[in-house]
Amino acid sequence: CGIVGIVGSEPVAARLVDALKRLEYRGYDSAGVATLEGGDIARRRAEGKLGNLAQKLGFEPLGGNIGIGHTRWATHGAPTENNAHPHATDRVAVVHNGIIENYREMLADLAQDGYLPKTQTDTESVALWVSRELANGAEPELAVARTLKTLKGAFALAFLFKGQENLLIAARHGAPLAIGYGATEMYLGSDAMALAPFTSRLTYLEDGDWAVITPNGVTIRDGKDAIVQREQQISQASALMVDKGNYRHFMAKEIYEQPETISHTLSHYVDMGAEKVAIREVLPFDFADLSRLTISACGTAYLAGAVAKYWFERYARLPVDIDVASEFRYREPPLEKGGLSLFISQSGETADTLAALRYCASQGQHVACLVNTLESTIARESAVVFPILCGPEIGVASTKALTAQLTALASLAVAAGRARGVLSAEQETELVRALVSLPTAVAEALGTEGQIMDIAKRLSKAKDVLYLGRGPMFPIAMEGALKLKEISYIHAEGYAAGELKHGPIALVDEDMPVIVVAPSDELVDKTLSNMQEVAARGGKIILITDAEGAATAGHGVSDIILIPHVSSFVAPILATIPVQLLAYHTAVFMGTDVDQPRNLAKSVTVE
Ligand code: G6P
Repeated sequence: CGIVGIVGSEPVAARLVDALKRLEYRGYDSAGVATLEGGDIARRRAEGKLGNLAQKLGFEPLGGNIGIGHTRWATHGAPTENNAHPHATDRVAVVHNGIIENYREMLADLAQDGYLPKTQTDTESVALWVSRELANGAEPELAVARTLKTLKGAFALAFLFKGQENLLIAARHGAPLAIGYGATEMYLGSDAMALAPFTSRLTYLEDGDWAVITPNGVTIRDGKDAIVQREQQISQASALMVDKGNYRHFMAKEIYEQPETISHTLSHYVDMGAEKVAIREVLPFDFADLSRLTISACGTAYLAGAVAKYWFERYARLPVDIDVASEFRYREPPLEKGGLSLFISQSGETADTLAALRYCASQGQHVACLVNTLESTIARESAVVFPILCGPEIGVASTKALTAQLTALASLAVAAGRARGVLSAEQETELVRALVSLPTAVAEALGTEGQIMDIAKRLSKAKDVLYLGRGPMFPIAMEGALKLKEISYIHAEGYAAGELKHGPIALVDEDMPVIVVAPSDELVDKTLSNMQEVAARGGKIILITDAEGAATAGHGVSDIILIPHVSSFVAPILATIPVQLLAYHTAVFMGTDVDQPRNLAKSVTVE
């Protein structure tokens, strides 16, 4: 969920909505704002996208120079208008990101005094608790301080009080919040991007901090209520909103940007003149000394790590452990001191990935991250920050961030291979040349769009789709299935081709499209045999391969999507393009909301 706040000198409602637009990546189930009108709390909330709230405010404007706003990704309670934030009583309004774990106990306690909830949310317990403190005579600061001591869970909160035209209170406990400084106003937001149109001067609250914000400044207290000074910094976040250009969706634009974004990432990691990898970050460890690399991430970023495992093990002989962050963090695996842990996250705000990072830091690991958002929480808490430099990604389904992550990871694997004496200088040059050939090959692979539209039309009628791949193509098969699920809502599975015979083959019949990702490499024959097992059972095969692979494909293939031949090292990056296009065009045929699919958020800031 996204939080904004303004305590100011001019009307705030429209500005709160603008700031929320920049936070929509955190959720878009419902949204709301609250301000003070004549000292009283006034709210407008709406189910669905932010546009609905903006429309509502058009019909029923909201005055007031102080206010808070929220865009929601539902955790407790359906995404209805009634469950939308801000939650309020006549004394206080609150917006919340995260989960209040003990809200049931709090509500039971409140019920004894006649404070009864009107919604199904965990957040309302906070509004009611603060209200009871206020009713018992506490000033807003004390009411919040006492409430914070009652709360369990991970959260960020912002409060607005009846009759307090110059006061917002904010608290951070596990979910990020930044305070922005203006000339005659102060701001509050989940990230620097939300605040960028207002100010670039900001302070990030630390965990346990809470802040009393007035138009003239802020007083920050830590978890023990002692006043603390937190560093003010200048944010680089851009105030510009990215637009779709001539594309119908951000996702299409982002797919088409990939030759350029991959080049951009490469220019950071590769010395093109010398044809060598050039790591610019200062590393507090030496790849040569590592006995293990631990990777943790979520969603598509996890699949980038899954491909990287093949690269680091093959080209650097470095053992890699990889797990989704939500499992890793509770598994609490034993980690050798001085090992390297790498966290991959486009947004740098994913709650599970952050928790995994904190666990590794507590275990004496070197903590590195690969992020797109350099001012994110994950970046700020990492000792080494590897950028992917692909520019803002707006489509909820990740595309150009994945290929940029893969490009950076491939470069790092080569650097590790050299440092560990596994790769010779000549081999390094050969691999770098393969990387440098990518932007052109990707541009060519985008040329398959016409054919893919044709296939997508048929795919849009399927109920289930199977994706198969072997080696580093296995995570790409999973990515194909993930993309299709996310934006077209068609059930899809990505399977290791060799595992087909141990279960999923039972699903194969003439109605089931099977997409085989198999560019020619040393494993292609094995994968093509698995494909023949599908063909023998009447399955409809769509093969993604290059000319050499196509020549040996054999019978029974309904469609071949031909991509250029590249070195097997970079082939997983190239093979990503057709699976993205397939998912995109299938979703377009189905008429779904491609950029903001149902139930998803671009960055999930709750565990
Ligand atoms: C969400 C998004 C995915 C993304 C994942 C991880 O689930 O819908 O597209 O891959 O989060 O996000 P991150 O920002 O950590 O890469």
